[in-house]
Amino acid sequence: MRNKIVAGNWKMNMSPARAVELINSLKDKINTTEVDVVVCPPFVCLPAVLEAVDGTAISVGAQNMHFEENGAYTGEVAPSMLVELGVKYVIIGHSERRQYFGETDETVNKKVLKAIEHNLLPIICVGESLAEREQGVTIDLVRLQTKIALKDVKAEDAKKVVIAYEPIWAIGTGRTATSEQAEEVCKAIRNVVAEIYGSEVADEVRIQYGGSVNAGNANELFNMGNIDGGLVGGASLKEEFASIVNY
Ligand code: 13P
Repeated sequence: MRNKIVAGNWKMNMSPARAVELINSLKDKINTTEVDVVVCPPFVCLPAVLEAVDGTAISVGAQNMHFEENGAYTGEVAPSMLVELGVKYVIIGHSERRQYFGETDETVNKKVLKAIEHNLLPIICVGESLAEREQGVTIDLVRLQTKIALKDVKAEDAKKVVIAYEPIWAIGTGRTATSEQAEEVCKAIRNVVAEIYGSEVADEVRIQYGGSVNAGNANELFNMGNIDGGLVGGASLKEEFASIVNY
């Protein structure tokens, strides 16, 4: 059985002090131990958040990392830096990074391999734009994104990755994919994982849905057969995140 995993992607929001306030209020409200809970704050909030979650079941993730170990990459953060802090997960290939910061399927793959080398658990984001959905290429595109992201990843490591299906048209728009639309694509992602690694690995890989997840739609989405939780943006900045985790 796959444990559900609900992760909050705070994006470029909060501050170290406000982050601690939010964690403290979430601690008392999360009342399930059956869901893996992850918060992904901005880099500068990581130390404060790691301290605030100490002794709780909440894990911490970063929103990005570089694929090099160190060097002349102004403004970037290396995987070993995250590991030293105690970060467990790292979001890789979010559509906002693909759209605004030149992330490609190839750099996503490099980052996935490097994260695994450092024992960071990647949350790999895939998903189509509205134009791509209307052109009817969603499944082809998401299959390709998934295949490239997992290139050269060994089966034992592939089991541990999380894949987040985030249709770009549903991010921050309040326009959630229907549970059927989300399930169709999450199932296609599991099928492509099965084609590469076989059904044992595909059965273990956790696939999240992301895009306007809130306390009102989480239950229906997370109860679909191939949706193992969510990657939550806006609603993860509020106490509502606890209700989503407790879905
Ligand atoms: P929203 O939940 O704000 O739509 O954001 C989704 C997302 O991009 C999470 O990574």
